[in-house]
Amino acid sequence: MRVLVCGGAGFIGSAFVRLRVREQGDQITVLDKLTYAGRRENLQEVESEIRFVQGAIEDPLAVADAVAGCDAIVNFAAETHVDRSIADPQGFIVTNMQGTHVLLEAARERGLRYLQVSTDEVYGSIEQGSFSESSPLEPSSPYSATKSGADLLVSSYFHTYGLEALICRGSNNYGPHQYPEKLIPLMILNALAGDRLPVYGDGRNVRNWLFVEDFARGIGHALLHGAPGEVYNCGGPDECDNLTVVGRIIELTAADPRLVEFVTDRPGHDRRYSLSSEKLQRLGWRAQEGFEEGLARTVQWYRENEWWWGPIRSGAYREYYERHYGRALKA
Ligand code: NAD
Ligand code: DAU
Repeated sequence: MRVLVCGGAGFIGSAFVRLRVREQGDQITVLDKLTYAGRRENLQEVESEIRFVQGAIEDPLAVADAVAGCDAIVNFAAETHVDRSIADPQGFIVTNMQGTHVLLEAARERGLRYLQVSTDEVYGSIEQGSFSESSPLEPSSPYSATKSGADLLVSSYFHTYGLEALICRGSNNYGPHQYPEKLIPLMILNALAGDRLPVYGDGRNVRNWLFVEDFARGIGHALLHGAPGEVYNCGGPDECDNLTVVGRIIELTAADPRLVEFVTDRPGHDRRYSLSSEKLQRLGWRAQEGFEEGLARTVQWYRENEWWWGPIRSGAYREYYERHYGRALKA
């Protein structure tokens, strides 16, 4: 396939690109704005085999340039951090909603297949049981509200224009190349540095952890085997609360458990996410990586790849960290 991958320099998008180039021999064009979260080095293993266009998905000219010669669009591009969306939602509305609209128009004009990468957060929080694809959308944060808006727009292009559009909703991803604003890489790097481990609220919020390569495979599966107009949930095999995750990271890094610090809770903090992935499993997808092994692999990757995270922790991330957590990162 010839695929335009939007947001392909980010954490999950780059895992998808590496996988598709290596295992499927796809011809890939990446369109990415290279925000603080987008990194060319995430693509260095496949750099000579792909075309890279730096540009924003909300820019129709950049999209027209990038999409030339492609059969399908897969959209990962988004502002993705819930805490940043609470501090300032504006950029989330532009990228996640307006940008999705520009991509849908490009797909409609050219008759392309379109896959929107979405999230379990559109369903909101669930105390017991799991969300199916027909659960109502009840987003809590500005981030998840913009992702829900984008999903509704994607569905409308299927119903109104007959666009071959699909949606794949993933649960919490973790693995190599994740920007350290998110729970797992933040805790790993702080633990390795002997820095405080800031746990929100009581630390008992539960997430449904999915190794990034499993999500990348699930998206590829939905793209090839899914039916237009359908939504496919792609959830991890294991659920775990935040304190347990942090405890495991402390063990894997041999850090001091007294580094754990309970800090002010996130406003509107969803208590639990849980996805039923039966529909995608009926198409033949299965998560391959359990959380125990996946977390150990992830800790090992961060130990061995300071070249990747060192420049991040010494740049604008430090300012973000100080603003958000009210204390400086340990040098
Ligand atoms: P990320 O923040 O690591 O990467 C986002 C990428 O999008 C970056 O490369 C960034 O430069 C690019 N980007 C941002 N704004 C852009 C714009 N206007 N135009 C073009 N490129 C732009 O994100 P991620 O964690 O890899 O998430 C990828 C997608 O998967 C997102 O749509 C997210 O909502 C979804 N998702 C994430 C998770 C998760 O746990 N991380 C789970 C389920 C779904
Ligand atoms: O569920 C899928 C979503 O997972 C994606 O759509 C989002 O793009 C992605 O950011 C992620 O959202 P979360 O808010 O669940 O992930 P985050 O890593 O920010 O937080 C995970 C949990 O850890 C959550 O309960 C908040 C808590 N947390 C997070 C941070 C950054 C802490 O306790 N301390 C922290 O410092």
